[in-house]
Amino acid sequence: MTLPNRSSRLSGFHHQSPPDRLAAVAAFAGLDAATVGHLADFGNLDPHLADRLIENVIGTMNVPVGIATNLKVDGRDVLVPMATEESSVVAAVCNAARQCYDAGGIVTSMSGPLMIAQVQLVQVRDPHSARVKILEKREEVKAACDACDPVLVSLGGGFRDLEVRVLDTLGGSMVITHLIVDTRDAMGANAVNSMAERLAPHFEAWTGGKVYLRILSNLADRRVARARAVWPVEAIGGQEVRDGMISAYQFAEADPYRAATHNKGIMNGVSAVVLATGNDTRAVEAGAHAYAARGGRYTSLSRWEVTADGDLAGVLELPMAVGLIGGATKLHPTARACLAILGVGTAEELARVTAAVGLAQNFSALKALATTGIQKGHMALHAQNIALMAGAVGEEVDAVARALVARGEVRVDIAAEELGRLRGRRGE
Ligand code: MEV
Repeated sequence: MTLPNRSSRLSGFHHQSPPDRLAAVAAFAGLDAATVGHLADFGNLDPHLADRLIENVIGTMNVPVGIATNLKVDGRDVLVPMATEESSVVAAVCNAARQCYDAGGIVTSMSGPLMIAQVQLVQVRDPHSARVKILEKREEVKAACDACDPVLVSLGGGFRDLEVRVLDTLGGSMVITHLIVDTRDAMGANAVNSMAERLAPHFEAWTGGKVYLRILSNLADRRVARARAVWPVEAIGGQEVRDGMISAYQFAEADPYRAATHNKGIMNGVSAVVLATGNDTRAVEAGAHAYAARGGRYTSLSRWEVTADGDLAGVLELPMAVGLIGGATKLHPTARACLAILGVGTAEELARVTAAVGLAQNFSALKALATTGIQKGHMALHAQNIALMAGAVGEEVDAVARALVARGEVRVDIAAEELGRLRGRRGE
């Protein structure tokens, strides 16, 4: 590809309005009028708000929001909004939830809303003494942390605990302090990062060391959401299906290559709820995968077993640092609408429902994989996307998709051929 010699040094870009930035980008990339018009349409997100949420905004990226039905979580029926571009993800949750609904649905719990901030101290001559010196200052650390966020404290949150480790690293011993903070209904990144920054000079003064990093840990293993459910063996198609699913889990438990895919399926559900509610998908993803490797070997986040009655029981546990206040959760109107649909009153309730969705997602993936394979269900929806890509509109989409599935060839060239044939029959 030959590109004209153009500069990415767009002076003053940051200070421009979104339309002016778009014009500059269009000139740079040679976008046609239709593409510019498309990007200029911000849909249901106010351009001023978009421009405040991130930097250098020129447009928005719409992702479909679907509703997972049939979910009963802790005895309460819930409709769960899921934002995802991937077909079959929402349907998978609906199907899994339907198959355990009569048996009571999904039961959830949570370890508590505790986040960890890390402070890295280096160049400490006597790291073990430094560790104990910091631990001796627990009350001062607590007071300094709580003074950072009186509102959080008034809501029942704030400093909870202090942990200090001497870490052996490539650069020698480091003294790593964990501030453990109850962040209540906030995801808590801002709160704990401020506390870590506030404490850093004190740690230097107490130990003679030098602080570099002051930042939360996404391995939020003090904020673990749990979900469990039982699927009656007759509701899932019998013992052979159950045993195939257990075997699929055992494969993931033993093999990181499979565990990565197994956990990706779980995160299909989890991240879709996290995104729909305006929370930080990357934080939750990072936490989940780090948690999956906490024993030193990457493994499955879920566990599957047979109950005394011969039914299938599934359990999922993963860190779930989500909040109801702050950032896009509070500002993005779609996130607010999704939270209203969910009807959750606390970050803990949101975390628990999200874990329930992850478990349901995993159930459906294992069931499909252990029986018909995922391509059958996937292909029907995928065929619709391919039909759209070939230019089908309205009722043509279903007709072309059906033809692709019947031919067993879900490809754009075949879709174009089928579309041509369909239009030919209609005399177009
Ligand atoms: C696809 O997005 C997710 C699956 O690959 C998950 C799994 O294999 O368990 C179907």
